[in-house]
Amino acid sequence: MPGDSVKVAVRVRPFNQREKNAGSSCIISMSGDSTTIKNPENGSTKMFAFDYSYWSHDSFQENGEGVFTPRSGSTKYTDQRRVFQDLGQGVLDNAWQGYNAALFAYGQTGSGKSYSMIGYGPNKGIVPITCEELFKAIETNKDSQKQLQVSFSMLEIYNEKVKDLLVKSKQATEGLKIRQNPQAGFYVDGLRNVPVRNYKEIEKLMEQGTVNRTTASTNMNATSSRSHMVITIRFNQVIRNAGGESNTRSSDINLVDLAGSERADSTGATGDRLKEGSAINQSLSTLGNVISALADIAGGKKNVLVPYRNSVLTKLLQTALGGNSRTIMIAALSPADINYDETLSTLRYADRAKKIQNKAVVNESPTDRLIRELKEENARLMAALGKGGGKADDSEELQRLLRENERRMADMDKTWEQKLEEARREWERGHGGVDHEEEQAEWRRLPYFTNVNEDTQLSGVIKHCLRVGETTFGKSSTATYIIRGLGIQEQHAIIKNSGSKVTMEPVKGAKIYVNGIKLKAKQELCHLSRIKFGSSCLFLYVGQVSERKANDEKEYDYDYFMAELAEHRGVAIDLQTPKINESMENLKSYVLFQEFMDLLPQISEANAISLELNKGVKFEAEIKTPASHDALQHGGKEVIIQVTNEKTKKVWIWSKEKFLHRKDLMEELYCRYMDGESLPMGRDTDPFWDPVEDIFLGSCHIMLQSLSYCVEIDEHFTLHNYHGKEEAVMRVKIFPLNDKGEYLGDESIVEPRELLGKPFNFEISIPECMGVRWCSEDRSRGVYCKFTIISKEPVKSQTVWGKGYCDFGLKHRVREKKVTQEFINYLQTHSLVVELWGSQVNEEDQIHQTFNGSNGHAQSDDVFSQLKNKDLEIEHLTKDLDAMKKDNFNLKKKLDKQQTQIDMKKQRRVDVSQASTTDVGLDADLAQALRLFFKDVKTVQGQISEIKEYAKMSQHGSSDNGNIKKALGKQEQKLHEVESKLSGCVDSLKESVANTLRKAKR
Ligand SMILES: Nc1ncnc2c1ncn2[C@@H]1O[C@H](COP(=O)(O)OP(=O)(O)OP(=O)(O)O)[C@@H](O)[C@H]1O
Ligand SMILES: [Mg+2]
Repeated sequence: MPGDSVKVAVRVRPFNQREKNAGSSCIISMSGDSTTIKNPENGSTKMFAFDYSYWSHDSFQENGEGVFTPRSGSTKYTDQRRVFQDLGQGVLDNAWQGYNAALFAYGQTGSGKSYSMIGYGPNKGIVPITCEELFKAIETNKDSQKQLQVSFSMLEIYNEKVKDLLVKSKQATEGLKIRQNPQAGFYVDGLRNVPVRNYKEIEKLMEQGTVNRTTASTNMNATSSRSHMVITIRFNQVIRNAGGESNTRSSDINLVDLAGSERADSTGATGDRLKEGSAINQSLSTLGNVISALADIAGGKKNVLVPYRNSVLTKLLQTALGGNSRTIMIAALSPADINYDETLSTLRYADRAKKIQNKAVVNESPTDRLIRELKEENARLMAALGKGGGKADDSEELQRLLRENERRMADMDKTWEQKLEEARREWERGHGGVDHEEEQAEWRRLPYFTNVNEDTQLSGVIKHCLRVGETTFGKSSTATYIIRGLGIQEQHAIIKNSGSKVTMEPVKGAKIYVNGIKLKAKQELCHLSRIKFGSSCLFLYVGQVSERKANDEKEYDYDYFMAELAEHRGVAIDLQTPKINESMENLKSYVLFQEFMDLLPQISEANAISLELNKGVKFEAEIKTPASHDALQHGGKEVIIQVTNEKTKKVWIWSKEKFLHRKDLMEELYCRYMDGESLPMGRDTDPFWDPVEDIFLGSCHIMLQSLSYCVEIDEHFTLHNYHGKEEAVMRVKIFPLNDKGEYLGDESIVEPRELLGKPFNFEISIPECMGVRWCSEDRSRGVYCKFTIISKEPVKSQTVWGKGYCDFGLKHRVREKKVTQEFINYLQTHSLVVELWGSQVNEEDQIHQTFNGSNGHAQSDDVFSQLKNKDLEIEHLTKDLDAMKKDNFNLKKKLDKQQTQIDMKKQRRVDVSQASTTDVGLDADLAQALRLFFKDVKTVQGQISEIKEYAKMSQHGSSDNGNIKKALGKQEQKLHEVESKLSGCVDSLKESVANTLRKAKR
């Protein structure tokens, strides 16, 4: 076979329900062996050439047995058979010749990796067809001098630990060890390699492996398919020649179903304090690095180090990649526009992989030589051990190798038939002699719970039958069905089957959801009830036989569960209706919505881990809307995670990436906790902890254009926070100044070009910020504002602590020595962005404060509560004031609009006629009314500040009750005054406005 570059095939699957709901369009097209992807945003395309491009998106039909085949008359669709013929058959041919072969599937979650590798139901994938075909060929072997031996192993790598999927019993928590030996390279020590005599046995083993994988996935709370599965079929041909000597030709076929690729870079550029990656993604990211390094080597680059040793997966695949193997990669693609980024990255990955060169050799040697080599190796080991003197660790390792060699020699002494017989006995022992068919029959008769997993391949694998009487679920070993996982109690649920009716009751404190609603008391279950135990254990209840219909369970997949749970939390989704003619905007919202939905289970797990590890941290997903947050709508909407320390009430805002990275670290921490390890205490490595940081509360944008006409700006802006709620009202003033730094009056209006070449000064001041929610919610918090003008250093105000109304006292002067056209352009096209930031006291400081506080003045509870009420009243009044300010602001906006109209008229040098005089007249009236209003409101503000001073006096002043009472009396009196003043000023404003409007109508 010439050249041994890795063969690469890509395959695009049909739309799934989610994509149909999103009204997705297909962005993949194929022609011959090339694949083209279209960017849905700008229509640009990229083409990639591969060994095979498989179209499995449409043009197919389902035959009577449920097998997807090309629609009659069409040759476009590639079915499972064709994929096997192109790829699997080659693997088989190689195996017969004695070459190692490897086939691995890459792609994002749900892209169709497992469909191609393992398949679903009657649509069998490459692995089963290859095994089936291998045995078909073996059965035709009539050569008595040729013994054909097949053995099977199946393992899973999760969190850098190797688990033998063919072992049912509990395995060592640290997983199986990876070892290296000079001949075989890296191998898994102690992995079961089961001799099999026919395809049926492989099928049984695979079934068992899938059940073990599912149980592990549920126990580890891995809602996302993040484990890698490696199946190895070892095929030996022992050929005896006429002289009685035998030759062994062997081939290892590695079939690898990788974890979803979207998780490869969650440690990436998150800008997180915790830099170290989580072990969960280590294998996938290292695989990417190995492929890149190998592609570089193939491209002629020298001195490239291939980092095989950096992860378990790449160690095991060392021969498959860049070694003694003929290797094939299948890249699975989603056709939908909403997955563009991930699909493009898969195509790039595949494009790199095709450059890798392997050097496959036939593995053939006389059997006697194998035994001789083992004996020689043994003698060498014994000698090394005899010499002694080495470190204790070394001698332990030598003894281990010796034992391993002896085991292999003993194994070689056994005949193949003996090995097969042992495997059969082992199987029976493992299954307690129970006939599998018999077990199956039970769920055919009885109601049962079947598991639902994010990975379709693992859904419906476990079936817990509910016999008549009581069935219990829980962590305890006394439960009928032991379920582990986050948020599961020792005893979690009690189910009673009366024979005709099945009811479920939560054990005290247990978290159970039925059809998205929390279960509080005993409830009857209906056929196809969706059940969630704890934070991630999902089951579908399948009722009495009489209630069942063919395939009625299918609809209730993982997505359905998630959508239902989200819906009950107020996130509404259109589950079934496909939308047509979606615009780009809608597409983006849908992607965002999906992101949000995908995060919900992760959030719920993070909260459960926090609870179990007693971290007191709460996570909530939010959608940050730029419309409410950023007046210019810069940047898109995005999902953010609000993190709150429930004890200290400190808040952090995390990006989705940072959260996912942290979540992986939390999971690792939790796994260690479950394994009984003592957890690290330090904050530095704690994924739940971060130093207290300032929170961005909102910003306002002030157009600087009027400044270029020397017109002052004095406006109130409403700032919105992440929740889209009003955060504060901020007043911003920008005044042009004369050379001496004095304010210019209204008369100073000029044409911008008149400013050219002259000096120009102005002052930005932020006199007040009102109704600051951040501080009103928690008086220990503070706020400050900052802005940047003409690319100078940012200007920052002082931090004002604990006040809903704050005076930043910020004044900043800008001096431009000589105005240039560039400067005028800047004013005319830019806005000043003033940001409001929330500060929080350091946790240490807070403890200090609380400590001091508790040592403070003793106060009578009664007086304190009265004061609190007064404070509340003041808050209400401030709110009213804010509302009026908003009215005022709107009126002022109208005024500005009219002003701009006048300016425009001036510019056009239109003769100012009667009409505009009326306008100016109206403006003057309105301005007069507003000025009056302002003055009044100012007085009110002064009064409120006074009241607050009294409040302070009475709170902190002295322990003398007499003083407090006096203060309270004064406060009450002032409040009355404020009230009447406020209503008076609203009335007079109303009247002025009405008059002005009447005039305008005339
Ligand atoms: N070529 C195809 N034709 C029809 N259906 C397909 C095809 N490929 C995938 N599917 C369907 O898409 C769904 C997801 O596929 P699959 O389970 O293979 O994804 P995956 O890449 O293995 O995901 P995960 O990373 O979660 O394991 C399955 O329901 C499967 O039946
Ligand atoms: Mg899969």
